[in-house]
Amino acid sequence: MYVELKNIEKSYGNYKASDHINIGIGKGKLVALLGPSGSGKTTILRMIAGLETPNAGDIIIDGKRVNDIAPAERGIGFVFQNYALFRYMTVYENLAFGLKIKKLPKKQIKERVIELIELTGLKGLEKRYPNQLSGGQRQRVAFARALAPNPSLLLLDEPFAAIDAKVRAELRSWLREMIHKVGITSIFVTHDQDEAVEVADEIIITNKGQIEQIAAPIEIYKNPKTPFVAEFIGQSSKIDDYHKLRGFEKGDYKGAIIRPEFVESFKSDNVKFKDVINYSEDGVIEDIYFRGNCLEVKLNVGGIILTTKRSLERRPIQIGERMHVIVYRLYAYDNERAYLLENKDLKGKELVTF
Ligand SMILES: Nc1ncnc2c1ncn2[C@@H]1O[C@H](COP(=O)(O)OP(=O)(O)OP(=O)(O)O)[C@@H](O)[C@H]1O
Ligand SMILES: [Mg+2]
Repeated sequence: MYVELKNIEKSYGNYKASDHINIGIGKGKLVALLGPSGSGKTTILRMIAGLETPNAGDIIIDGKRVNDIAPAERGIGFVFQNYALFRYMTVYENLAFGLKIKKLPKKQIKERVIELIELTGLKGLEKRYPNQLSGGQRQRVAFARALAPNPSLLLLDEPFAAIDAKVRAELRSWLREMIHKVGITSIFVTHDQDEAVEVADEIIITNKGQIEQIAAPIEIYKNPKTPFVAEFIGQSSKIDDYHKLRGFEKGDYKGAIIRPEFVESFKSDNVKFKDVINYSEDGVIEDIYFRGNCLEVKLNVGGIILTTKRSLERRPIQIGERMHVIVYRLYAYDNERAYLLENKDLKGKELVTF
């Protein structure tokens, strides 16, 4: 492991911002810290950077305990949410700044800055000042500046939070590409799950100062370990009496979490579903919302409200219409864990779905 946090505790007064944190991050990996506001993401990042001191535990980078090493000596690059570029310096001067402080020869500084400008696609913008750049361009400069001294670890705290949705989506894939090109171990903080899923090799889910799960995005999505992760990831709704649904039995669970993609609804004359019609529930459409690329449909199945999505290519539906409803799977949970339950009735049946 390249970065390790072992039994880290951090309190602000009585408040535990980090409660027994254990993390290991492999060399060259791009890892996202994902969690709700106040869950302790920035605290973890600041401790790794040395801007905050843990009350207990070890921070290890490349096999060395760094707790007592000053931030500037840790070989870390930092990109913050609010650009933090030097306003009275051009792009070129911003990128050269850290290298001048390190007293590198002029020629070497110039070569490095040109290299960074090419790498990050900032050519032509060298002489501009930060206020002459778009938000996206500014964050690219911030990224290039953090890379300038060749850090061995890059920390990014919500780098795109202040940028509008479309540019933000472009920057995400740009960042992923850049980081893999440079091959630098990076930790990226976000509270946007789409961002984490799209960018990261691995996701660390934080909640109330603790780590809920560490896994690849697909694993987090498909096998949430705790009730918190099951509910936090994806668009989920909670139901108590899930055992009333066909294909599911009551166990020692407190309730269940269902995502729209686990629910299918179809009209009774839909031949594609004729084999499973006997295993379906009767439902009534309570509400239909237009979501741009699909419809979101609320179905009432014996008092249980289920949400599903419906392609705009399928036949039109109406509020009050009776539909057949199938629940493929759900996450049942107790106080500690989430458990994937598959619909028993559908076992071994081939379903034709879209
Ligand atoms: N310097 C501080 N003094 C007191 N409390 C603090 C301090 N820094 C953070 N906290 C508290 O610690 C908790 C975790 O804060 P942190 O900034 O790590 O959360 P976060 O997950 O980064 O949230 P956000 O998504 O809003 O940035 C919060 O409850 C916060 O109020
Ligand atoms: Mg934060």
